[in-house]
Amino acid sequence: MKRGSLLFSPITIGGVSLANRIAVSPMCQYSAAAGSANDWHLQHLGSLSMGGAGLVIVEATAVEPEGRITPGCLGLYSDLNEAALEPVVSLCRRWGNARLGIQLAHAGRKASSEVPWKGGKPLPPSAGGWATVAPSAIPFDEAAPRPEALDEAGLARIREAFAAAARRADRLGFDLIELHGAHGYLLHSFCSPIANRREDGYGGSAENRMRFPLEVAEAVRRVWPRSNALGMRITGSDWIEGGLSPEDAGIFARELETLGFDYVCVSSGGISPKARVAVAPGYQVPFAETVKKMSRIAVQTVGMIVDPRQAEAILAEGQADWVALARGFLDDPRWGWHAADVLEADAATPPQYRRARPDLWPGAALARHSRAG
Ligand SMILES: Cc1cc2nc3c(=O)[nH]c(=O)nc-3n(C[C@H](O)[C@H](O)[C@H](O)COP(=O)(O)O)c2cc1C
Repeated sequence: MKRGSLLFSPITIGGVSLANRIAVSPMCQYSAAAGSANDWHLQHLGSLSMGGAGLVIVEATAVEPEGRITPGCLGLYSDLNEAALEPVVSLCRRWGNARLGIQLAHAGRKASSEVPWKGGKPLPPSAGGWATVAPSAIPFDEAAPRPEALDEAGLARIREAFAAAARRADRLGFDLIELHGAHGYLLHSFCSPIANRREDGYGGSAENRMRFPLEVAEAVRRVWPRSNALGMRITGSDWIEGGLSPEDAGIFARELETLGFDYVCVSSGGISPKARVAVAPGYQVPFAETVKKMSRIAVQTVGMIVDPRQAEAILAEGQADWVALARGFLDDPRWGWHAADVLEADAATPPQYRRARPDLWPGAALARHSRAG
């Protein structure tokens, strides 16, 4: 750190120290088979783990087969899934320099879809699809099949599936777990009045709607070591009349803080095709800011953060504790190195690639300049 960049200052989340405040946000690759990772995940995560981010979070990883969004989604529900992820974790550990997280998820009523590049439509059983589950038997849209409303036994099964996947993540040596409580998937759909119309103890009041996600959080907290880090991606806005608001996110974050969670990532949208999301640079930062004001839990912000100076300003304003980027890292897997150059800071680089850094290669300045147009 040469000039006192906040983005490149270290931070400790739970028991895990990050070299800087840049995370690679979880990104589904839809490239697994029966939930198991393969050489796509090796190169994808291997490359990202040496791009200068302090933390890389593996894509939404289903805790049971029916919780996969698509047949190509990762899972961590079987010994085979666990064994297939092991070389990916080893590769990132051996050659990369980021801490490693995994996002554990259940897609709920948005499960059983075709992969996006084949249209993303609901996949009928005849084409390899499966029955979906949800808080209430309300389909996501007209094209989606009616999900089954979960009963007590189903809720217990899924709670235990999250805990079992967390134990597997621990065995694999992940540093961090992020539970997926956003984007319209199962945990979010319990929180949101748009998808949850239950009349038992899991529906109705905000307290009741938060109950199941908090039970899952508690089950994972019990098995996940305190020496690691634990967080949840939550919803800052449903972007729809009668849906969740930033204040609801603040209340939920306080509950997670009480359970001993280390952080929340405040995302938004995904509960209904009718939601109108106003995407713009840093569009979810105000939600993170509200959650920060309402709680003491650490906050990760995400969403159209692209420019290093923009990221630095978010931290300087105290709106979040660190930033996550998704598409910025697909576009430039060395985003962390280049952000360090802009902010006159240092980012870890593998020695094999040192000769492409600006102090050893005058071409670096030319390359950046030509990119900027
Ligand atoms: C290809 C792709 C896959 C994604 N998969 C996930 C995912 O697995 N879990 C998740 O919470 N968000 C997922 N997202 C959302 C991103 O993590 C991120 O929140 C969103 O893209 C906004 O950040 P960005 O503007 O930096 O891309 C995905 C986004 C993309 C582009």
